[in-house]
Order: sequence, then C-alpha cells, then structure tokens
Amino acid sequence: MTTPVQGTAPAIDGPDGLSGMPASLGWEDMSPAWDQEGPKLLLTGTIYEPDGRTPAANVILYYYHTNREGRYVHIPSEPRSMPPNDLGQTHGALRGWVRTGPDGRYAIRTIRPGTYPTRDEPAHVHATIKEPGRIEYYIDDFVFDDDPLLTPAKRQRMENRCGSGVLHLVERDGLLVGERNIVLGLNVPHAARRYR
Ligand SMILES: [Fe+2]
Repeated sequence: MTTPVQGTAPAIDGPDGLSGMPASLGWEDMSPAWDQEGPKLLLTGTIYEPDGRTPAANVILYYYHTNREGRYVHIPSEPRSMPPNDLGQTHGALRGWVRTGPDGRYAIRTIRPGTYPTRDEPAHVHATIKEPGRIEYYIDDFVFDDDPLLTPAKRQRMENRCGSGVLHLVERDGLLVGERNIVLGLNVPHAARRYR
C-alpha cells in the first residue's frame, strides 16, 4: 500500500471505501473522471473463486485513484465523492464500485491516474474486494507496466493479493485497456478474509 497525498495529510488507505456505496450496483462503472482530460482507461477482467476457474458472482470491487495531478480531491458536487475526515483524509471523487454477475466480469471506465507530486510511487488505482459474508480486504493496486516508477524493487515488494495488479495496457478503439483477472483469496492472509 502507499501513502497518498492530499494537502498535508495522507489519504485513508486500506479497505475502508465502502461508505457511500449505492445500494444497486452493476458489473460496469464509469468514474467521474470519464469526462475529464486524460487518457481514457478501461479496467476489465473476471473475478474467480479461489480455484481460479469458477467465476465469482456477487463480489463487490471498490476502486479509487488520483486525478491527473496525482491528488485525491474531494468534489462536493459529485455525489460519490468522499468528504474528508477530521484529518483531511479522503479518497476523493474518482472512485466507484462494481458488483459481478454470474460470469464474474467487471468493467471500469475512467482515466489513467497521475503520479503523486512527490513521484515516490508508481501511478496506481487502489482496489478493495468485498465477498458475500466476508469482511472487505484490499488487494494489490492496479499499476502500469510501462510506468518508469514501477522499479524492479517495487515489483519485488508486491504482495500479489488476488493476483498481480500489473497491467499491460493495450490501445483499443481510442481506449487504453488493462486486463486483470482476480482470484479471490490468492496471497491474502486468512485473517484478512475472515467471515463477518
Ligand atoms: Fe494512493
């Protein structure tokens, strides 16, 4: 995990982004960034049960990322934006949720996030998984294989929670497409995935 930048206070890290989640979710989502300036990005793939083969239904995937300036910015007029807590921490406005159907598929349309102004971390999209009946847990960030900040040392330190988050982007119809299949529980400590 990383220490995001928002003003002088770090943003909230970890699996705590389910507040503000709409009651009804689909397998596709479009973030508020879609209409903003920046390379359009499609994050997509299949979520599998721990056997790696059976599509996992009714799994919520929560994501949030910085804007093009590498900042988590709360936008009060944006309904899904997270208001800062007492410490000024927020996931910002560029966040959302999907819920898988029987085929386990998900698709998130957004823009490619910028790098923290400190340039000490690769650009990334945070992700949290919520399985039915279990407590939510974070998985490896989505990161980009072509990012010069994704150094060998950073790659070595990855936990590969639910599989690698490294995306090999492919350009398709004016979109950058990053495919990632997610295997529930893979490399996730038992305690982090316990039943509620
Ligand atoms: Fe971050």
